[in-house]
Amino acid sequence: MFSLIKKAMDEVENKKNMVEKDYHRLSYHLMAPSGLINDPNGFSYYDGKYHLFYQWNPFECNHSTKFWGHFTSKDLVSWENLLPVLAPEDWYDKNGCYSGSAIEKDGQLILFYTGNVKDDYGNRESYQCLAISDNGEDFEKLGPVIVNQPEGYTRHFRDPKVWKEGEVYYAVIGAQRDNLTGAAALYSSGDMKNWNFLGEIKTNLENFGYMWECPDYFKIKGEGVFIFSPQGIPPEGDRYNNIYQSGYVLGNLDLEKATLNHGVFHELDRGFDFYAPQTMIDEKGRRIMVAWGGLPEVTYPTEDKGWVHCLTMPRELEIIDGKLVQRPVEEMKKLRRDFVQIEERISGKKTYPGIEGDSFEMICRMKSIEAGEFGINLRVGKNEKTTLKYNRLEKKVTLDRSNSGEIFAEEYGTTRKCPIDSSEITFHIFMDKSMIEVFINNGREVFTARIFPDEKSQGIEFISDSEAEISIKKWNI
Ligand code: FRU
Repeated sequence: MFSLIKKAMDEVENKKNMVEKDYHRLSYHLMAPSGLINDPNGFSYYDGKYHLFYQWNPFECNHSTKFWGHFTSKDLVSWENLLPVLAPEDWYDKNGCYSGSAIEKDGQLILFYTGNVKDDYGNRESYQCLAISDNGEDFEKLGPVIVNQPEGYTRHFRDPKVWKEGEVYYAVIGAQRDNLTGAAALYSSGDMKNWNFLGEIKTNLENFGYMWECPDYFKIKGEGVFIFSPQGIPPEGDRYNNIYQSGYVLGNLDLEKATLNHGVFHELDRGFDFYAPQTMIDEKGRRIMVAWGGLPEVTYPTEDKGWVHCLTMPRELEIIDGKLVQRPVEEMKKLRRDFVQIEERISGKKTYPGIEGDSFEMICRMKSIEAGEFGINLRVGKNEKTTLKYNRLEKKVTLDRSNSGEIFAEEYGTTRKCPIDSSEITFHIFMDKSMIEVFINNGREVFTARIFPDEKSQGIEFISDSEAEISIKKWNI
């Protein structure tokens, strides 16, 4: 084993007791065994398995160094954490094997990632690098194939996402222009080794933040989707309230002219903790997305327990009525146990035996008869609750974590809202100790949030200010 990887695994072993003892460790979301996990990388299907690599600092809960950790799974539900595949130990990636993607070529799995290099004065160099494997587990680094950036851009140039059309490989790379605005660069190659700069992707988002991280371009049934994570977008009412955003525009990319004719920018997630998503297409032809369930530059409560962050569940993407819709992959149903079902009319506050917990899936359809506001309190305990509700007058769904438990990131606000116009709302909730993902009305909106309640806060209350019909299906996980 390479020395740096050995050092990382020793660190995992040393921190194991402390990390595993923490109540807020998750039961079905992916986490790093110690230290910090951030972006999903190289999400791919190779040799009969899903491969999901991740940005990993094994040593500390900060971004000082980055390895590529490695999860594999046959079904997107039970995952194995293998040895890391990339360690920052070469001259071209010594300050971090940064984000990137993976693609199969001639029977090999190829990783395409950014080597981050900083000198003593903080000056940055960026190398887009390759690593190859014949078995999906052991990778050989091939070094840089794109050195630094084209003219007109700064060295904030990273996160190559590769795909193939016909015989040609294309890649989008996140960039910052010399005038400190964000952009994405388009490249092509016949062999993955020699890359041609085709130009900046022309959009009508000329002045949209100072850096675009983690771009991704793909098609769903012939319709183009461009996902990216712009930094530096100021809040605008209910939108853009997190430190950085992740979102998409719909539109087809003209690969010859590097032009994207697109619609408006939508945030992918309306919650607090979602960033740097990456997608892949699987053997079944599904477009599946995983994101980092966290954000940079925000302090999270588990950092002093030797670990921080997690990934979201895999979500299948579809375009419905001009909007990207996200649903948990079908396979998540495999985790369901202890089914409970209730259907009735409520008014006021209601609890039910068997409907409680800290690790569950619940589908709750609520329909107003007379009610103006209805919803659910989750993780209810002494002085704690996390509220999800819909207000018909306001026509908005709200997620309120102001009383969820340990407070963090308060400076970015404690509620998130998004507009929905309907007298009937389905909250599809995945609760996992300190992570919650809520799919509203069949994935038309999604809220992802970390919460840090007390272990004893496991109550669930259904609330309605007047008469409402509710139908609940719940499973423990
Ligand atoms: C996004 C990001 C990427 C970079 C990586 C480093 O969260 O900043 O742009 O490659 O994380 O870990």
